[in-house]
Amino acid sequence: MRKPLIAANWKMFKTPAEATAFLTTFLPLVSQQSHAEVVLCPAMTSLAASIAAAAGSNVHIGAQTMHWLDSGAYTGETSPTMLKAIGATHVLIGHSERRQYFNETDTTVNLKLKAALAHGLIPIVCVGEHLEEREADLTAKVLELQTAVALEGIDAATAAPIVFAYEPVWAIGTGRTATPQIAEQAHKLIRNQIASSLTPAIAASTRILYGGSVKPDNAATLCCLEDIDGALVGGASLDPTSFAQIVLNSAA
Ligand code: PGA
Repeated sequence: MRKPLIAANWKMFKTPAEATAFLTTFLPLVSQQSHAEVVLCPAMTSLAASIAAAAGSNVHIGAQTMHWLDSGAYTGETSPTMLKAIGATHVLIGHSERRQYFNETDTTVNLKLKAALAHGLIPIVCVGEHLEEREADLTAKVLELQTAVALEGIDAATAAPIVFAYEPVWAIGTGRTATPQIAEQAHKLIRNQIASSLTPAIAASTRILYGGSVKPDNAATLCCLEDIDGALVGGASLDPTSFAQIVLNSAA
């Protein structure tokens, strides 16, 4: 009932020309698959080129962040209205690098999540604990709090599009991955919190992705377990062959 979603987070990589070249190689590799929804999240300056290159394909294009307001004096920011206007369909919210380097908090995550839903963008809300938190046995507390605050004041009737991504910060870009058992346990905690914040039915239908050093060779074991409904991929999504392999291996 939950269609797997495999998303690429390109971070601050790829010019428009590089994004177009990626899509030229990537699209034919995944054109026959339909088990997963595939989303690429390029940098803002490569969104338009990526949307043009992906037009008519089974690949969607999303942003890596956005502001929560429609417009205003916020130098450097991009609004949900602007993303919709160019044809973006998804948006990452609260990635740990945004939280760590750009002062995003659970409260701004909540504002952005509400804005994404109001504008018809599919939000991918990132949560995850730091290594010190895991070692201090605080993982459950951190995940429950991040999930609960993200969902504060959200009407269950509007919540169907929400996607979560569990990204343990210690696994991002480190080559260290959560074991399937660790990931399953975290995903269950997040799903239980969604059930308490919204409804059990919404929790059962919400996709929760795993992110953190997903590669072609571990995609089959990490992407799609009982409570894991896909992946958010950083480093290994920059190469079209490697990312296509992840998409195809996640069908296993
Ligand atoms: P990684 O990044 O796959 O390079 O670990 C994942 C992410 O930051 O979303």
